[in-house]
Amino acid sequence: MNFAHLHLLLNHFPIIGTIVGFGLFLISMVGKNQDLRKASLIIFAAMALISIPTFFSGTGAQGAIKKLPGVSEVLIERHQGAAMLALLFMEITGGLALAALWKAQGKSQGMSSPASWNWSLSAVLLFSIVTVGLMTRVGTTGGDIRHPEITTGQEEVTEGSAISKLVSRFEPSPGKFAELMTASKWWWAFMMDLHFVGLVLLIGTVGILDLRMLGFAKQIPLSPLHRLVPWALAGFGINLLTGVLAFTGMDSYYTYNWAFWFKMLAIMLLGLNVAAFYLTGAFESVEGLGAGEDAPPLAKFIAGTSLFLCFAVITLGRYIQSYADTITVHK
Ligand code: HEM
Repeated sequence: MNFAHLHLLLNHFPIIGTIVGFGLFLISMVGKNQDLRKASLIIFAAMALISIPTFFSGTGAQGAIKKLPGVSEVLIERHQGAAMLALLFMEITGGLALAALWKAQGKSQGMSSPASWNWSLSAVLLFSIVTVGLMTRVGTTGGDIRHPEITTGQEEVTEGSAISKLVSRFEPSPGKFAELMTASKWWWAFMMDLHFVGLVLLIGTVGILDLRMLGFAKQIPLSPLHRLVPWALAGFGINLLTGVLAFTGMDSYYTYNWAFWFKMLAIMLLGLNVAAFYLTGAFESVEGLGAGEDAPPLAKFIAGTSLFLCFAVITLGRYIQSYADTITVHK
């Protein structure tokens, strides 16, 4: 299996998934159905997560096919630019969906009704419309690369409709973008500093929550710690942004790095872990945990795997840079 296989395996999920999520979101609005709305928001968040390795696998797919006869680098670059813009909107939509889920969960415990429409749902609607459009364009430009039956094998990029022409103006040129990211050592260092700050926010909040569920610091009730989760999400957002920017700056370097891909796997498993926490009843079993009370075994198991995966992400992130590059090894 090479990177082209991996890209083809992943790349239909963000496109079809976003369309399905959008359809369910619309039906939930019309039918005022809370469960359907929750399902559509979860789908948006899941698609935002799966879009990340999909995007990262593109450079490897390019490496695997670019020397083949009839493959146009120009078409690949157009597709890559379209994917950069779509990824931005996809991640914003996913973040907004998580904010809406967080609000609904707070409301279901508080005074107002979870059924009420709010700013986060309006923002999800707006951004998901744009994301569906941009993802469709990513799919068509991706299909153009190796489907002469639909493109008549054109070498030059021709934008058909007025909308495609308009959208293409907002799509970055991957080559120029990469140059921009690596133009200054200070900029690179600043991004890495932010990446570190994001990581600290994440482990400093989720890590404490996990430790409490595992039975440490039992005198603290769980719910005040759980209120810190938005800080963890902010940390993840910072890391996602700086991580994607760093990748676009040196995509080949990261693509052919095993530690990078294991780190990606650990992040995807962390996403599954979060889903297991909120969707299996584990969260409900601990949300009212008072001082001195013990969490049930399922919650403990999820907390343990979450801590393990967080440390795996940190360690693998460290190994992306080769060990010998940064310290002098005395033999
Ligand atoms: C979220 C981001 C992305 C999505 C959803 C996506 C989607 C797609 C789709 C639908 C195809 C057509 C598959 C087919 O022919 O059946 C494709 C092909 C391709 N994409 Fe992407 N793509 C993304 C990012 C990227 C990036 C960043 C690159 C980097 C250059 C890239 C490079 C390629 C290449 C080289 C192909 C042709 C693969 C082949 O036919 O073997 N993609 N992509």
